[in-house]
Amino acid sequence: MLTGVRVFRSDIIVPVFVVSGVGVRREVASMPGVFQMSVDVACDYLSDKAVAGFKSFIAFGVVDRALKDEIGSNAVDPENDVCRLLMEAKRRKIAMCAMTDLCMCEYTSHGHCGPVDESGDVANDRTVELLVRQALNHAKAGADVIAPSGMMDGAVGALRTALDHAGFANVAILAYAVKYASAFYGPFRDAADCAPGTGDRKGYQMDYARDARDAREAVLEAKLDIEQGADMVMVKPAMAYLDVIARVRAMSEVPVVAYQVSGEYAMIEAAARNGWIDRDRILMESLVAIKRAGADLIISYFADVIEKLVD
Ligand code: PBG
Ligand code: ZN
Repeated sequence: MLTGVRVFRSDIIVPVFVVSGVGVRREVASMPGVFQMSVDVACDYLSDKAVAGFKSFIAFGVVDRALKDEIGSNAVDPENDVCRLLMEAKRRKIAMCAMTDLCMCEYTSHGHCGPVDESGDVANDRTVELLVRQALNHAKAGADVIAPSGMMDGAVGALRTALDHAGFANVAILAYAVKYASAFYGPFRDAADCAPGTGDRKGYQMDYARDARDAREAVLEAKLDIEQGADMVMVKPAMAYLDVIARVRAMSEVPVVAYQVSGEYAMIEAAARNGWIDRDRILMESLVAIKRAGADLIISYFADVIEKLVD
């Protein structure tokens, strides 16, 4: 009767890693229980999730090394795996909101989130142009929401304008507004094969120790993205940043999404597989904490477990 925070399947955004081929289902070494899937397998998986009451998925493209280059050309190919997934999901009428991660790091040979200029930094404005092309492809293929994840300055505004002009006013933007340069993304770089070859992402992601204790840089980042037209804002990672989720919730008129990232998944799963913790109880406690902090939606790799635990 007095339960204040309840978690439902409909709160969860289901991530999928899409690879080429047919019938492919490959477990991610550092994320046991999570699989890279070809379009056919991913659609079967998502159909089941839709029937179970999950309302949305977010797709990440994982491309063969041979297709990667300096600028990440495959990201803007209208027939790449993510576009094929979107079209197939629409064709099969999978009743879920289709979201896509918008970034170049899965597609560049150097693993940075955009083309790198002479100084070795990611070229912000050139990257934004590529993100616009990627977003238009996704919108044409059937995306309902696009989620720019590279924290490039001005990306949200440029995407909003481009989508509106191309007749996609109804495609929403989920901005990775507050994204820290975090070691918790380690296993994802395995899952999506996108570790930067040299250097780190501190040029464009946030420094977790730089912000003041009131998280004002996080609040500023969220404000900038909302002003540019973000329909939802994300805080990432989740568990180590509950205070940041709460602060962003307090200033934001739009829904707040928290990303329980790959490292959070891997830690819980590894300890559980060793018999050191009770996975289901730790998972529920974590999800309730993230929701209590202020998240309206949670991206979580634990969809299969969550399905067993809640309605
Ligand atoms: C790509 C991207 C990353 C994640 C989501 N989108 C990797 C990164 O920024 O290094 C991380 C997600 C996770 O760890 O689960 N920009
Ligand atoms: Zn990236």
